[in-house]
Amino acid sequence: MVPTQTRILFARTPEGQLRPDDFAPETGLVGDPRAGELLCRNILLSIDPAARAWIQSRTYREQVLPGQVMPGFTLSEVIRSHDPRHPVGTIVLIDGGWQEYAVVPGSTARPITVRAPLTHHLSTLGLTGVTAWVGLHEVGRPRSGETMVVSAAAGATGNVAGQLGRAVGMRVVGIAGSDDKCTWLVNELGFDGAVNHRSPELRRELKALCPDGVDLYFDNVGGPLLDQLLTLLNARGRVVCCGAVSQYDTDSPAPGPRFVPGLVVTKRLRLEGFIVTDHEDTWARAEQEMAELIADGRLRVAEQVVDGLAGAPSALVGLLAGNNIGKQLVRIAPDPG
Ligand SMILES: NC(=O)c1ccc[n+]([C@@H]2O[C@H](COP(=O)([O-])OP(=O)(O)OC[C@H]3O[C@@H](n4cnc5c(N)ncnc54)[C@H](OP(=O)(O)O)[C@@H]3O)[C@@H](O)[C@H]2O)c1
Repeated sequence: MVPTQTRILFARTPEGQLRPDDFAPETGLVGDPRAGELLCRNILLSIDPAARAWIQSRTYREQVLPGQVMPGFTLSEVIRSHDPRHPVGTIVLIDGGWQEYAVVPGSTARPITVRAPLTHHLSTLGLTGVTAWVGLHEVGRPRSGETMVVSAAAGATGNVAGQLGRAVGMRVVGIAGSDDKCTWLVNELGFDGAVNHRSPELRRELKALCPDGVDLYFDNVGGPLLDQLLTLLNARGRVVCCGAVSQYDTDSPAPGPRFVPGLVVTKRLRLEGFIVTDHEDTWARAEQEMAELIADGRLRVAEQVVDGLAGAPSALVGLLAGNNIGKQLVRIAPDPG
């Protein structure tokens, strides 16, 4: 009997905001790995806002087209191997997609040395945490005593970026989408302050929390918040352009930002983007440093896990609406016994 599996297809290009029924489950075949390939059992799926951008147009990867299995990073167990670098039983980070099993080239798999709960290797100790580390240290170049503002601060990347900023002695102010999230950032994660981006007094509140101005803006959202921060940045301020989630869930992103190049010139600002996968050489160092910070209690892991692959579409829609605190994951299968 040919083995089958459940997988979730991207079904149709959304008009306006994404909906769960823009995806469709189907039963498909489990692939047969060829020379150099691995058959992997997907265990945990990372839900990333960029997935909304991948289905809208070409980004740093090819556009995902209707009828294709929805891509997504997974932590997966190698169950058949035609690549000696990844023997059966290895846990790997792969682009395993929204499905129970994936066949991938061994050359694209990153083996994981499991030293924490598996979920941590897809949140703070995984791609997300490394994104925050690379953005802060390699792009932002933080200095103790400076003021940093981070947007989507209660989300996966933002909460880690803020905590890492605190760990190097910065004053850190978060921006998040609810008062509860702001309270959590200050009381649980030790941020120096937090403001709700829905507040009509946002600018005044930010200025009050940043009496010495803003030296570094870790930007996860783009859009009108970036406009606001450009006006609050100090001379020679830096913007870490990590993402633009405010512009993903639409078929007509807003033009912008305003004040470019005007304020960039007069304030000598530096706006720099990055893609975490270009920084492979620093992953081990970032993971090691964050593992040490977790061990000594200076970095808290925040994640929420939906049980079952069928929950992936709603998890992505919910993420874009701000329903998550910390890293949003989907559990596809139990951890290996
Ligand atoms: N450069 C890279 O290599 C790289 C790698 C991974 C991720 N990223 C980027 O990092 C950013 C964060 O990703 P993540 O995975 O950590 O997701 P996340 O922050 O956990 O989730 C997205 C959050 O964005 C916030 N948001 C949604 N719409 C918003 C809006 N209009 N204005 C302000 N905030 C809004 C929501 O929180 P609120 O309740 O606070 O609104 C939501 O929780 C994204 O832009 C993503 O593309 C970049």
